[in-house]
Formats: sequence, structure tokens, C-alpha cells
Amino acid sequence: MFESLTGLKRSHSCGELRARDAGAEVVLMGWVQRRRDHGGLIFVDLRDREGLTQVVFNPEVNPDEHNKAGVLRDEWVIAIRGVVNPRPPDMVNPQLGTGEIEVLVEELRLLNASRTPPFQLEDYRVDISEALRLKYRYLDLRRPSVMKNILFRHQAAQVTRKFLNHQGFIEVETPILTKSTPEGARDYLVPSRVMQGHFFALPQSPQLFKQLLMMSGLDRYYQLCRCFRDEDLRADRQPEFTQIDLEMAFITEEDIMGVVEGLMAALFQELKGVALEPPFPRLTYQECMDRFGLDRPDPRFGLELKEVTDLIRESEFRQFRQVVDQGGIVKAVNGNGLAKLSRKELDDLTGLAGVYGARGLAWVKMHEDWQSPIAKFFPPGLKQAINEHLQAREGDILFFIADIPQVANTALGQLRVHLGQREGLIPEDTFSMVWVTDFPLLEYDRDEGRFVAVHHPFTAPKEEDIPLLASPETLGQVRARAYDLVLNGQEIGGGSIRNWRRDLQEKLFQVLGLAPAEAEEKFGFLLEALEYGAPPHGGVAFGFDRLAAILCGAKSIREVIAFPKTQKAGCPVTQAPSKVEPEQLLELGLRLEK
Ligand code: AMO
Ligand code: AMP
Repeated sequence: MFESLTGLKRSHSCGELRARDAGAEVVLMGWVQRRRDHGGLIFVDLRDREGLTQVVFNPEVNPDEHNKAGVLRDEWVIAIRGVVNPRPPDMVNPQLGTGEIEVLVEELRLLNASRTPPFQLEDYRVDISEALRLKYRYLDLRRPSVMKNILFRHQAAQVTRKFLNHQGFIEVETPILTKSTPEGARDYLVPSRVMQGHFFALPQSPQLFKQLLMMSGLDRYYQLCRCFRDEDLRADRQPEFTQIDLEMAFITEEDIMGVVEGLMAALFQELKGVALEPPFPRLTYQECMDRFGLDRPDPRFGLELKEVTDLIRESEFRQFRQVVDQGGIVKAVNGNGLAKLSRKELDDLTGLAGVYGARGLAWVKMHEDWQSPIAKFFPPGLKQAINEHLQAREGDILFFIADIPQVANTALGQLRVHLGQREGLIPEDTFSMVWVTDFPLLEYDRDEGRFVAVHHPFTAPKEEDIPLLASPETLGQVRARAYDLVLNGQEIGGGSIRNWRRDLQEKLFQVLGLAPAEAEEKFGFLLEALEYGAPPHGGVAFGFDRLAAILCGAKSIREVIAFPKTQKAGCPVTQAPSKVEPEQLLELGLRLEK
């Protein structure tokens, strides 16, 4: 019953025909989205990547083909030859690109049947579980709203390549089977058969290779590269993801930021018709923490954090005083107009603050006077001073957290974002790009009992802070020549100027607690390369999935990845990872414990 394509060649996509094509003979191929039988006529919505076209079978014109069309079911694959017919004005469908026309079928070929899909492939059916969608991803992708994201991602990749090529960047591929480059996550390991007991790591990023390319003189490298990180997954994280990765030689921070701003402007202009205005605002890390509590600021709405430590010294509230006496701080947020929050909502917010380590969340509702469980500990003059400092007005709610700076900032910063989203304070369809600069180079890791790199160990310190590397007391004050780009409160990219002289790179390994022998074993190839005329260099990498997701308004990066992994880092289509034959293990010299 099924037929071949012999002698038939597709003339148009299913999204292409318009009123101007009336009278043309066309050949379309695709899937049956829906078949409707109406008073003898059979209407089929034919779908392909580009859209839908209504095709019509008329028993009076062509009884044989009409008969054949009677067997069509959802998702059957067909080819039709017919003539474009303008629809009568009252039948025009303005929702559809091809809504002005239909195709009157002269020949139908049945190419393949389909089982009934496990879910309807129409866009208004959105109540499908993600697990089912991802298991049958090849069907899910047929849905226009899902397909659209993948097409959009392709456009974004093209704009990126075009822009960077134009700026003199060279696309170079770097190894996938390689040695681990520390980016702070766990590695995916691949055993070597030839050298038993030895393992490759899949790259967490091409960091060291792109630096080596600068030493090769391949100035201005880029790559849309796959990176692999075995870390806990969230909505904006995947175990394998794509970066737009760049590196440049003979440059400073300004040059890199300039290229990136141009690239972002091109992406927004060409994909969204939005004119961004470089240079983007720059905030230091410290300023971000002070005002937003997070190093990923979203300045599109208010509720900024303010420190009230000095004022609190005069209060009698024991919990606050104790924290302040021990060197902690008290930070506050004025939730403008949110005094309406219920007790239950406040309890939920306290719970949220708790998730980020806060021991409590104190609140004050502004109703003439302070309405709050802690009001009695604050004399009138002090209340007045705090009101003025926070510009508190009738109907506002003030939130306070007393703790060490890191906890007070993070918890209030998260609370701010939560309130901004929940209360609809963030204007829709607005984009905020912010550079965050002056990150600390190192942070003390209590678990490891040593300093670790905030970014990665190849990031250069600020020239003027190099002397601070000499003493353990001042290590925490060293600032990095690093920068992050934050879009709507999400980190979409980060980079730095690198240590391009061996002595400085060795010094960094040393302060990170890497013994010279270990540094040699892990990074000897880099240290040696730095001795053969390494130019000053630096670069940046963007989360391409995150960028694409934000650009097309997707809730999760899974929506812009053709075959994403599940929360458990598995492939829902192939069921990978899977067991392997004992012989395969034997060949690799591996034995499973259980
Ligand atoms: P970094 O580790 O900051 O820098 O990564 C750069 C960007 O990649 C994105 N990203 C992710 N996206 C999806 N899933 C993940 N698991 C994931 N992890 C990171 C983020 C992030 O900003 N080699 C350095 C860059 C450099 O110094 O040039 C690096 O990889 O958007
Ligand atoms: P308590 O007297 O312990 O019941 O606390 C009174 C209020 O202050 C409660 O709403 C607590 O959540 C809040 N609170 C206690 N400790 C802190 C803190 N360190 N920071 C902010 N609020 C706190």
C-alpha cells in the first residue's frame, strides 16, 4: 500500500505558500497533523519543519485520491502534488502563515504509517510530562513550539560565527579525549585500552588548549565547543553543554569586553530586533554583594539591600546585637508596598532564607508604626532612623537578616529575586546585561582547609595586588583580572586575563597548595609552554545553551537542546548510561566491584 517518491520532487516547504502562489502546481511532503472530513471534502493539515499547509481532497475532482486519503491518520507521512488555491475571504486563517491558501490535491502518495503517538503533537496540549516528552524526544521535536527553539539556536550559532569570523577569529577544534582541566566540577573519565590503568577526562572546557593556541600564535581563537561536567543538575545546568569559547592575545580586559559586547549586540539585534547599548554597565563584585547580595545582579527591579549594622548597635534585640558584637552584619531590604504579605507567606520566606543558611528572617510591617514581633526592642528614635535609611513608607515591609556577611547577603539576595519574580516586579521582555569585575582571586575553602581559585587557577591577579600573594593573611584580598557577564540575573559568561609568565603561574599553584612536583605532574606541559615566549592573553566563555534559552524565553536550557539529559544525568532516548559486556571491561583492564 505504501509508495515511493520516484518521479516526485518537493517544490515548497509546508510554511511557504502565500496568495501570490495561487495557480501554481506544487509538491509538498510532510506529516499529517490532522485530518478532517467535511461534507465529502477531506482536509489535511500537512506539517513539516517550516509550518502547516491545508491540503484538500475533493471526491468530485479526484475520487481515487480522495478514497486513499480516507485512511490517513495522525503522523502518517505523505507526499502530495496539487494546485494552490486562494481561500475564500471568510476561510482565511490569519493565525497561519499559509492561511491565505490551500492546495487542491491531484496526487497523493502514502509514504509511511505511524502508530498513535504517546501524546498529541499539537501545541495547545502542554500538559505532557517532561519524562514522556524526553523519552520520545524525536516526536516532541515535531511540535512547532519545540522545533522553533532548535531552529532559533541554529540562528544564534550562525550569528555568532558570522560576527566572530568578521572580527578575525579562527575556529579551531580542541581534543575531547584529554586530561582533566580543573573548572571545579567532577570529571567524566574514559579508560584507555592501550594504556591500561590510565584515563582520559572529557574536557570541562578547552581552557588550557585555548591558552596553548595563543602561544602557537593562533591569535583570536573561537569554538562552539561541548563541555562535560559531572555536577548536580539544575534548570540551568546540563552534564554536557555548549560554550562559545574565545581567546585573544596581546589584549587587556577592555579588548575582550569590547568583542563580547559587539557579539551580544549582534545576537540581540539579529535574533530579537532589540538594540542593546554597549558599553554594558560594570559593577565590582563588592558592589554587587552590597546592593544585590549575589554576584549575579538583576538590576531590573528595586528591593536593593542596605546595610544597617551601625544603627542596630543601638537596639536591644539580642539576636541582632550578638551577631554584630561577633563581627557580623545586619542587612535589610525594603519590600515596597508588600506589607500585605500574609503570615503564611512570611513563614515561607523565612523558610527560603533558611535554605541559604540564615538563622531567621525578621520583618517589620509599616502601618503607622512598626508592626512586628521585634518592634518592642527598638526605641522610637531608632525606628525613625531605620525608616529614613530604608526610605520606609506606609504599606512597606522591611526584612532584616543578621549573620556573617556571606550568609546575610546570599539569603537576602535570594529573597529579593524570589519576591521580584513572585510579585511580578520584573518588567517582561526587558534585558539587562551587566559586567561583574574585580572578583576575589581566591577564597578560603573550610572543607579543604586551603585557598581555592574562585574562577580557575590560570586567572591572573591584578598587577597592584601581586604583593598580597606573599602572605597568607592577605590572600583573600587579592583581586582577579576576571569578569562575568550577567544577563537578567543569570551568569551567561565568564573569563579572565591569564597568567602568561611562568613565575606567576607557579606562584599561584603554590598558594593553591599544589606542591611543585604535583604542579609539574598535572600542569608541567603548561608551565613548559609558558617558557617558550607566551604572549599576554585572555579570553572568555559563554554558556550557549543559557544564552539561547534566555533569548527565546525558554524556562529551562533543556528546551534549547535537541537531546537533553535528565535530572539523573541520563539520556532518556537511548537509556544511556548502560551496562557493558564483561569482555569490554576485560579489554580495558577493569573489573566492577559489584
Ligand atoms: P565557566 O566555568 O564560568 O568558565 O563556564 C562558562 C559558562 O558556561 C556556562 N556553564 C554551563 N551551562 C550549562 N550547564 C553547565 N553545567 C554549565 N557550567 C557552566 C555558564 C558559564 O558562565 N574556561 C572558563 C572560561 C574562561 O576562563 O575563558 C570556563 O569554562 O554560562
Ligand atoms: P526569636 O526571638 O528568636 O523568636 O526571633 C524573633 C524574630 O527574629 C523571628 O522572626 C526570627 O526569625 C528573627 N530572627 C532571629 N534571629 C535572626 C537573625 N539572625 N537574622 C534575622 N532575623 C532573625
